[in-house]
Amino acid sequence: MVIKGPKGTHDIISNDIKKWHIIESKLVELMEFYDYCEIRTPIFESTELFLRGVGDTTDIVDKEMYTFLDKGNRSITLRPEGTASVVRAFIEHGGFNEVLPSKFYYIGPMFRYSRPQTGRYRQFHQFGVEVIGSINPYLDGEVLELMMNIFNSLGIKNLNLEINSVGCPKCRPVHKEELKKYLKKNYNELCPTCQVRYEKNPLRIFDCKNEKCQEIINNGPLITDNLCEECNEHFTNVKNYLDMTNVDYTINKKMVRGLDYYTKTAFEITAGREGAQSSIGGGGRYDGLIEELGGPSLPGIGFAIGLERVVLTMEEQGLFDNIPKTKNKVYVANVSDNNIDAAVKLVHELRNNEIIAINDIMSRKLKGQFKYANKIDADYVITIGDDEIANNTYPLKNMITGEQVYYSIDELIKNLRGV
Ligand code: HAM
Repeated sequence: MVIKGPKGTHDIISNDIKKWHIIESKLVELMEFYDYCEIRTPIFESTELFLRGVGDTTDIVDKEMYTFLDKGNRSITLRPEGTASVVRAFIEHGGFNEVLPSKFYYIGPMFRYSRPQTGRYRQFHQFGVEVIGSINPYLDGEVLELMMNIFNSLGIKNLNLEINSVGCPKCRPVHKEELKKYLKKNYNELCPTCQVRYEKNPLRIFDCKNEKCQEIINNGPLITDNLCEECNEHFTNVKNYLDMTNVDYTINKKMVRGLDYYTKTAFEITAGREGAQSSIGGGGRYDGLIEELGGPSLPGIGFAIGLERVVLTMEEQGLFDNIPKTKNKVYVANVSDNNIDAAVKLVHELRNNEIIAINDIMSRKLKGQFKYANKIDADYVITIGDDEIANNTYPLKNMITGEQVYYSIDELIKNLRGV
């Protein structure tokens, strides 16, 4: 029986991997300009990290974690997101003793056990950034500008950035109480999940799909109306930065985000794809998380982008339709077995001169080699026979125009590198 990949996972192969390389190389290039350093953390961590870091009232911790006991009876969880791991590593390696802020970025797989559908997978990939150590609202602005710069640099259109402030431990409890007072009157009409949310985290009722719950919560008090002076001023300065740097945004006073650690600025971005899986990135401030995880009282902010959703969006927007070729691909054909060694030597020399070169390793006849060269989209074929070796000139055939010119090896290299 054929074994298939697990549900909710996917292989990235053939032409698709090129799309990932385009995106990933753009990301790495941009990170250099903003002076962020890559961090690679393990894909599994102690379960406790996410219980404390992501929060036990979130869907992620409640029902989406891949948790198991290892052979040493330790509870292990495949990371559902990157922020908690980065903060854990920052604390563990004493990042707070270094110059602040610490600026990290990461690319890698995340794992969430949810119902798979287009744009939602059980193993998916995130690119994320985390900055630890500054409470300055202009940092929020810079991080948001960076996120938008990424999408713009990839050519993504129809971007919609929504921002909100979700308050801080000073103003949020006051708001929570006010919200609970309002919801108490409608408690019996809330769905069972929201009745639990009412107790644990009533703000999450905004995320409920149930129409009645939506109707109730939509008429309730908003966190933005109850922000303390500090949060209000912070939010004003974030908006100021975005205005200065021409970043378009809308304020969504109902956005709360599905993770518990957010304080002050929270944001989400879509790019024209409809439906529940439309968010291609999101993030916010987490000024209490470093302390919550046993570190010093330092603020943090970051975001993560869902790379599968970026690929889907770019496909839909036709952004992979004309991927320009950056290098020539050359197939070196041997007329007979006698010429194989000469083909191997030429391929070796071409590769050393940064030319993509391939020769036969299937013992094909010359005709079969040409067929193969066509299939792998070779731009040129060089044919090597006894005469070519004797004269030290080789026919370079352009596979698109059919034109063929004889060159010495030096001339071949010069011509092929000149794309
Ligand atoms: P998040 O909103 O849970 O935030 O995820 C960020 C992005 O990951 C989403 O906008 C989406 O594009 C993608 N994503 C999430 N779940 C899936 C899935 N099952 N399949 C495919 N893509 C998915 C975080 O993870 C936070 N750690 C972001 C952050 C960083 N906040 C501060 N720093």
